[in-house]
Amino acid sequence: MGFKQLEDNRKRKLKVLRLSLKQNCNFSCIYCKPENYSLDVLNIEQFKKLILVSCRLGVNSLRITGGEPLLSSQLDELLYEIKSQRLEESNPVANLQDISLTTNGYLLSKKKANELFKNGLDRITVSLDAIDPDIFSNMIGEENKIIGKEKLFTVLEGIDHAINAGFNPKAGKLKINAVIKKEINDNQIFELVDFAKKRSIEIRFIEYMDVGISNNWQPSDVFFSERIIRLLKKKHRLKDYGRKEGQTANRWYMSDSNSFVSTISSISNPFCSDCNRLRITSDGYAYTCLFSNEGINLNPWLSLPINLHELENKIKSIWEAREDNYSEDRFKVLEKKTDKNQKIHPSMSYLGG
Ligand code: GTP
Ligand code: 5AD
Ligand code: SF4
Ligand code: SF4
Repeated sequence: MGFKQLEDNRKRKLKVLRLSLKQNCNFSCIYCKPENYSLDVLNIEQFKKLILVSCRLGVNSLRITGGEPLLSSQLDELLYEIKSQRLEESNPVANLQDISLTTNGYLLSKKKANELFKNGLDRITVSLDAIDPDIFSNMIGEENKIIGKEKLFTVLEGIDHAINAGFNPKAGKLKINAVIKKEINDNQIFELVDFAKKRSIEIRFIEYMDVGISNNWQPSDVFFSERIIRLLKKKHRLKDYGRKEGQTANRWYMSDSNSFVSTISSISNPFCSDCNRLRITSDGYAYTCLFSNEGINLNPWLSLPINLHELENKIKSIWEAREDNYSEDRFKVLEKKTDKNQKIHPSMSYLGG
């Protein structure tokens, strides 16, 4: 099909497109703190062309993000259209081996889960940071504990709806992400593992990262992966499966449950050397790094009718110019940072993780 595999300055291939459909969110997690201002969102045609062009440049994995992607009224139609294109042999979109979505799970009703599955979504990752209702409420920024508890139950039900719709965790189609913030939810690690284990869901513990500025991140808030693994080894037998090239997670096999527990260690063990992810925000800005100060405005290349060739050349030039390795340099960058040179750091909900 004549795909050109694109590489950046450090010979890193473009493989994953993380496309944010909506920057707004219905939660307000303390480690993310979405701003929820209103932006002009791209339309289906523009999203489709971005996917097509990315596939022409070698992307074989699409992750749909937000904010909260289930808030997007364009999601179902977009998935449906991509599903049809994947079936056309000569279409570069058929290059997509994997379409996944990251959600907080609150809108994962039975109907929604079935629709997502029917429309060709391959995998879902649900964020779940606590099993205890009060701690969950705190993590999602819900002050009313009763409402927080209801939200937790809705998310837990959402996970079961997704499994029943066909997202089989044993086949890696459903995972859980848990961000651990020191002394806030680190006492939830065993409970989260128990919950996931019962359903054979891979649970991934994420080191709290310094994305954006609104979460007021401090190095002392990070609960390191190494400590999580040390803790879990007291109770479970874990076999180290390592981290696959181009992936974020280090995986551990729990032989007592025939399932995986993983760690995502951007702080203690950066994975920039094989970072293959391009982010495009819902208002059409490209970010090659989660920690970039600013994005590149693709809107001039997205006005209709879109010239595919020009859009492709623009994305190609962005990737080829790429040199980011923020997580490898994090502490040098942070040392140099003063109030004066601190630029606006885009938030996680805007960038989609
Ligand atoms: P899989 O394809 O299932 O492995 O998902 P993923 O880990 O690539 O994506 P997901 O949306 O589940 O993100 C998990 C965590 O990894 C989140 O905290 C993301 O912000 C973080 N993450 C994803 N990509 C990157 C990256 O390129 N750099 C850093 N530092 N963190 C990332
Ligand atoms: N650090 C680490 N992970 C984060 N996420 C959101 N904010 C942060 C942060 N500051 C996670 C969400 C979701 C994924 C896309 O990113 O919990 O699972
Ligand atoms: Fe929303 Fe996800 Fe941010 Fe939580 S982490 S506020 S669910 S975008
Ligand atoms: Fe990629 Fe930037 Fe994350 Fe490093 S910090 S893995 S370069 S997105």
